Parts: sequence; C-alpha cells; structure tokens
Amino acid sequence: MSDRALAICYGTRPQVIKASMLIEAAAARWPLVTVDTGQHYDYELNAVFYEQLGVPRPHHFLEVGSGRHAAQTAAVLTRAAEVFEGAKPWAVVVIGDTNSTLGCALAATQMRIPVVHVEAGLRSNDRAMAEEINRRVVDAIADLLCAPSRAAADELRREHQPGMIALTGDVAHDVLLRNLSRARAPRDNEAWPLDAGEKFAIATLHRAELTGNADALAAIVGVLRALPLPVVLPAHPRVRDALAARGLASGGKLHFIAPLGYFEMIGAIRDASIVITDSGGVQREAYWMGTPCITVRTETEWRETVALGANTLVAPVSAGKELQGVVEKRLGSVEEWDRSAYGAGDAAARITDAIASLERALG
Ligand code: UD1
Ligand code: UDP
Repeated sequence: MSDRALAICYGTRPQVIKASMLIEAAAARWPLVTVDTGQHYDYELNAVFYEQLGVPRPHHFLEVGSGRHAAQTAAVLTRAAEVFEGAKPWAVVVIGDTNSTLGCALAATQMRIPVVHVEAGLRSNDRAMAEEINRRVVDAIADLLCAPSRAAADELRREHQPGMIALTGDVAHDVLLRNLSRARAPRDNEAWPLDAGEKFAIATLHRAELTGNADALAAIVGVLRALPLPVVLPAHPRVRDALAARGLASGGKLHFIAPLGYFEMIGAIRDASIVITDSGGVQREAYWMGTPCITVRTETEWRETVALGANTLVAPVSAGKELQGVVEKRLGSVEEWDRSAYGAGDAAARITDAIASLERALG
C-alpha cells in the first residue's frame, strides 16, 4: 500500500455507478480522497446508487448543482482545486466526459497533479456536443489514458495524445457483471406500470441535443405512443422538464415513470424486448445483456455495438419517419452478437494496474 493519496472524482449518475468498482479496486492500493461534485443531487440520480452499490460516503461533496456549462464547470474547477490543495493527492482520477470530468481534470492539471482519464479515446466527432469537447480536452491533458476499447486506444495513438495509453476495457461492464444477480425483475417493482409478464420496450432520453429540439421530441413521443408494444420510459429530469414544457405526457402505449435505481434498470434492460435510448451506458448494458437496442442519435461513441449488430442508429430528426419501422424490424428478428468488445469485466483491476505503472514511472 502506497502512503500517497489518490483522488477519485465523479458527480453524475453513471459516474457514481462506475466509481463503485474503481473505489473498491483502488482502495486496496492507495489511501483515497473521494470527491462527488454534486452535479447530480436528486436522490434518484445520486444517493440511490450509493445505497445499492455500497459506495462509501465521499470525503468531499462539492455541491455544485445545476447550471449553464460555464458556471457549472467553473464551480467544479474552483471547488475541486480547494480540495486538492488541502488533500494533496499524487494523482486525480476522472471518469467520462461530463462538466465534472473537465472541471476536476483542469483543477488537477493547473496544480501539476497527474490526471488519469477513465473512458479515454471515445469520439462522436460532433463538436456541438459539450461532452465531445470535454473528452477531447481531458484526453489532451491527461497523463494516463484508460481506453475502454481497442478502437479508443488506436484513436488516442492516431491523435498523438501525450499521456500513457492503457487498454483497460470498460468499468461499466465490471459493475454489471458484479450486480447482475441482484437485478430486479420489473414485476417486483411497485412503480412498474405494466402487468407482470407483459412484453415491453424500455426507453431513456436525456441528451441536450434531443430535449432541446421540440419537434424531434414531439415526433419521438408520437412514435413511442403508437408502437406495437408498451414502452416504459424512466424520465431523467432533463427530459421530464422538456416534456412538461411542451405539454407532452404518458398516453397510448407510452408510460413515463420516475428514474429507476440501478438494480431495477438493469433488470428492465435484461427483460425488455427492445431498448430505445440516447444513453451511452444503456447502449452498452443492452449490448452485454443481449437485448436489441436502437439509439436515437446520429452517431455513437460506442461504435462496436453498431458494427456487431446489437445497436441501430436512428437520427432524432428522422425518428418520426423511421423509428417505428426500425423497431418492428429489430423485434421481428432473432439476434446474437459477440459481447467482448469492451473487455472481460476486469477493467477496474486493469485501471489500477495502469495507475500503479504511472506512479512507478513518475518515481
Ligand atoms: C450530464 C452530462 C451527460 C451525462 C448525464 C448522465 C454534462 C455536460 N452532461 O447530463 O454527459 O450523460 O449527465 O446522466 O456534463 N437535474 C435535476 N436533478 C439532478 C440533476 C439535474 O433536476 O439531480 C436537472 C436540472 O434541471 C439540470 C438538468 O437536469 O439543469 C441537466 O443536468 P446536468 O447535470 O446539467 O446535465 P445532464 O443532462 O444530466
Ligand atoms: N440508469 C439507472 N436508472 C435509470 C436510467 C439509467 O440506473 O432510470 C443507469 C443505467 O443503467 C446506466 C447509467 O444509469 O448504468 C446510464 O446513465 P445515463 O443514461 O444517465 O448517462 P450516460 O451513460 O448517457 O452518460
């Protein structure tokens, strides 16, 4: 056990989920300083995952809350810098591509603290997405880049990123494998709106590109209401607010419900006939669990899922015309695909091995 502290930073729903395994793996090797930025703060986007996945309370909760990109990122940057100043970690681990990822990575870099980027090398090549800018900046300043796939590692080499590159696999896979036996079947969930045994589609939508486009959102809701099977959509607050602002509600085959806990969500993805989503995490969970997925985006960072036949892209602008046909086609075919694109579910161990190599290299 090293005596120098390692900081692990996170702040949104999927980051708390991934931090559950990273914290456990890293705690065996370094004293930890854990930092939850508070970008997500509602019980159902934050505390429920601590409870279900046994995440220890963070040492620092930055309470940055919601805001426009600049204000939110600036609050993370300022408050993370204060924490690092006091705790003096030898390295800072950040996950993914959110404003929390960027703020914490910048704070560390400005203080000459090495940065470890988990989920490095992913690209959508859509520079209008805040996440694309965040991940490119963090990759450019990180000292260790942990790539979830071969293509992501190749991309980092092609871009000549200065940090050390490690092909680690995807820690979200570790979390799923660890917890799959605890997945809750929808029929055991009191909030589930359908009869036990009824076939269904599970949907999630939260991307700003969609929630901010009134016409595309209305068209998708129209299609979801008219699909041949019921659709259950646990609504992230961003889509909940966008729907309310446009007077769109449950109706026809479509049922909006509150966001689900992790055990309920992976149970729903496992048992669904089909998944319709714009979430990065949900796309991979459908891929690993063998449930056909349709992603309502023009591109995905998780291209392997499309190449292997698990995932079909439908552009939001054409969803009104295409989504129904694509759902019917995917429902009507029996499908199997290779599920090993993002490693074997041992990413947390590989990431901590890579961090230990970084520590040795830095002396
Ligand atoms: C953020 C990430 C996105 C990630 C997603 C995971 C950025 C730029 N985006 O998007 O990459 O996929 O998290 O879920 O970092 N809100 C609440 N309660 C909460 C949190 C948010 O009501 O606990 C509402 C607020 O109105 C807020 C809005 O949701 O303005 C959006 O939240 P925000 O964290 O800014 O972005 P997400 O869409 O969640
Ligand atoms: N998730 C959840 N409950 C929900 C919706 C999603 O537990 O109601 C989980 C999902 O299983 C996955 C993660 O949250 O593990 C994905 O988070 P999100 O879609 O918010 O963000 P993204 O992965 O797109 O960054």
